[in-house]
Amino acid sequence: MSFNSAGLSLDQAPPQNIPFRFFLTAPIFGMAGFILMLWLGPSVFISRYHPGLIAITHMLTLGVITMTMVGALFQLMPVLAGSIIYQQKFLAPVIHIGLCLGTIGLAFGFFLFQETWLKWVSLVFLWGSLGTFIFISLIALFKAKSQHSTVRYMRLSLVSLAVTIVLGTFLELGHLNFMELYRPALTDLHLTWGFMGWIFLLILGVSLQVIPMFQVTPRYPDWLTKRYAPVFFLSLCALLLAVFNSLAFGREEFFASLYSALTGFLLLLIFLFMVATLWLQKKRKRGKRDILYWYGRLAFLVWFLGICTYFIDQNNSLWVHNDRRMIVVGIFMFWGVMAYINGMIYKIVPFLIWFNLQAKQMDAMMKGLETPKVPLMHEIIRQKYMWWQLSLFFSGCVLLVGAQFFTEAFYLGVLLLLLSYILLTQHIFGAERKSAYHTENILA
Ligand code: HEM
Repeated sequence: MSFNSAGLSLDQAPPQNIPFRFFLTAPIFGMAGFILMLWLGPSVFISRYHPGLIAITHMLTLGVITMTMVGALFQLMPVLAGSIIYQQKFLAPVIHIGLCLGTIGLAFGFFLFQETWLKWVSLVFLWGSLGTFIFISLIALFKAKSQHSTVRYMRLSLVSLAVTIVLGTFLELGHLNFMELYRPALTDLHLTWGFMGWIFLLILGVSLQVIPMFQVTPRYPDWLTKRYAPVFFLSLCALLLAVFNSLAFGREEFFASLYSALTGFLLLLIFLFMVATLWLQKKRKRGKRDILYWYGRLAFLVWFLGICTYFIDQNNSLWVHNDRRMIVVGIFMFWGVMAYINGMIYKIVPFLIWFNLQAKQMDAMMKGLETPKVPLMHEIIRQKYMWWQLSLFFSGCVLLVGAQFFTEAFYLGVLLLLLSYILLTQHIFGAERKSAYHTENILA
């Protein structure tokens, strides 16, 4: 059977279990991260360099965000770009296990055990898994039949992941006393390439296709699909050069001003993307607002708050202690990214299950077999349950920002976040069970 609509190569879609193993694991890492946060208590926010906070940060950035994005890319590269990924049935489980073990090793190596060998082992697993993933994905994307803007964004995002890993490795080598630990310069660079390069460029590239398609809006303007990506990426490279120049040749003041100017420029570009998306959504032709729409709105709101916090602080360094300011900006950025990822999971998981069941049902019908009814997309995970999850997530994040000023809000905030991830896990496992049940019925 061949599906080909709206420029999608749906007949190239990989088996459902390839992206699903990543989607099923991501919320479990979320739960683990928030349990660790509850256990450590409010003192975890004393400093951005608290080992427990670095462990939690990577349970979320690698365990939840990167895990979901890798799963989504396994699904989207063949469908959006028509690119076949080399040996995906064999490599996806290997990459998945490597990413899980590498993330656990990195988190434990920082926090519970502080063992040197664990840090080395985690580096091997992370390089092995993510390195392989980047390599096979870039090959697939360069060979892709269609070379539209999303493909270019995906390529830049993967290169940014590689840069993030290299910078993370330098930091890890600093902790292992192999080289100097360049704080905060290298740490800031690492998280900027991670958030702006790897995460934001992918979100943007996928939005270019998914928002006009799912929300029936006009297409994004040319400046966003053509010129934006190279300008954004070159600014990130200039940031990298500024930091390395300053570390190598001094002239710290000059490079610090350049760094601030470039970061400001990148944040402004992100702001422009948000304005363009809101403008398109205002012109949308379909009235119904789904959960992805609301999660997207929430993400934009908090990114906007994060950007404002950053600019206010740049002009008033007394406003709040520097370290704490970075934590507040960090929470806003995380909150936005996790909201976006959450919304995407709620959109992609029911769509994939529905699509695969439809395909199986049609195959059975073509063989002349009688087939039972399969659930509609909105019956796979009910909207009202998603709203519960969104409300818990939102309240938890508000309280966590509040906890930066009133410590009392900490425990309730983290508890609500933990509950929201328990719900997300339950919804995704529930959807998977429904999929297995209906598949069995069709094949019976
Ligand atoms: C192989 C993968 C990675 C390794 C080895 C790694 C390593 C590290 C290390 C060693 C630190 C501590 C820095 C310090 O002590 O100053 C750190 C901090 C951090 N990393 Fe990673 N990292 C990796 C991937 C990522 C990714 C994909 C992201 C995504 C955005 C990320 C985001 C962060 C953040 C937000 C911090 C905290 C910075 C702060 O203290 O404010 N990391 N990383």
